[in-house]
Amino acid sequence: RGPEAVRADLAGRHVVISAGGTREPLDPVRYLGNRSTGKQGYALARAAVARGARVTLVSANSELPAPAGADVVRVGTAVQLREAVLKAAADADAVVMAAAVADFRPAHYAPGKIKKRDGQEPEPVALVRNPDVLAEISAERARPGQIVVGFAAETDDVLVNGREKLARKGCDLLVVNEVGEHKTFGAEENEAVVLASDGAETPVPYGPKEVLAGRIWDLVAARFE
Ligand code: CTP
Ligand code: CA
Repeated sequence: RGPEAVRADLAGRHVVISAGGTREPLDPVRYLGNRSTGKQGYALARAAVARGARVTLVSANSELPAPAGADVVRVGTAVQLREAVLKAAADADAVVMAAAVADFRPAHYAPGKIKKRDGQEPEPVALVRNPDVLAEISAERARPGQIVVGFAAETDDVLVNGREKLARKGCDLLVVNEVGEHKTFGAEENEAVVLASDGAETPVPYGPKEVLAGRIWDLVAARFE
């Protein structure tokens, strides 16, 4: 089935998608962030609207235009993203975690701008762990039969790490991307393997993020049936 052939196989479903990358503030002007642009999550949201779903898009710091027909909830940090995803997931049929969630955040937020001082070495930045949203929603499904999808960007031993991550997170599907210089971050196209908890592997050849989005919804819709 080509990406242009659209059927309403997600009609009556509520799907929640997180997209973009979280930013963890150090002080009022600085943050720890990552290179995610939100393209894959926004493509998933547009595709789900086209297939008839009610879509909640939890968007972390993306500058992309809001997809027509989706409810967009804007968040900044991982803690805010967790809150928004958990709230929306309460009545969701599927949750897709496409956002790049910071694993750590600064242990302390400086309410005033951190200044340098002559002759003084900078203070090291202490970090603490952020909540793992994907593991949490996978472990405590808000609804029986809710489908949970995670993403993983890996640089080495992509499939081995992907299988291990799928098991550790407890999600139904894990979309594994190989990250390299021209792949994934900010790119229009990527290549992935979708790993399923039942052992199935669906390779998606190098191509537009829209096509990968379509394949992901195909796999989710098949699990609804
Ligand atoms: N994720 C999440 N909460 C976090 C970190 C990650 O929900 N605090 C989600 C991401 O949205 C993604 C999946 O978990 O769907 C995998 O993210 P990844 O960074 O690859 O996994 P980690 O468990 O953080 O492992 P790593 O140490 O390789 O970063
Ligand atoms: Ca991580």
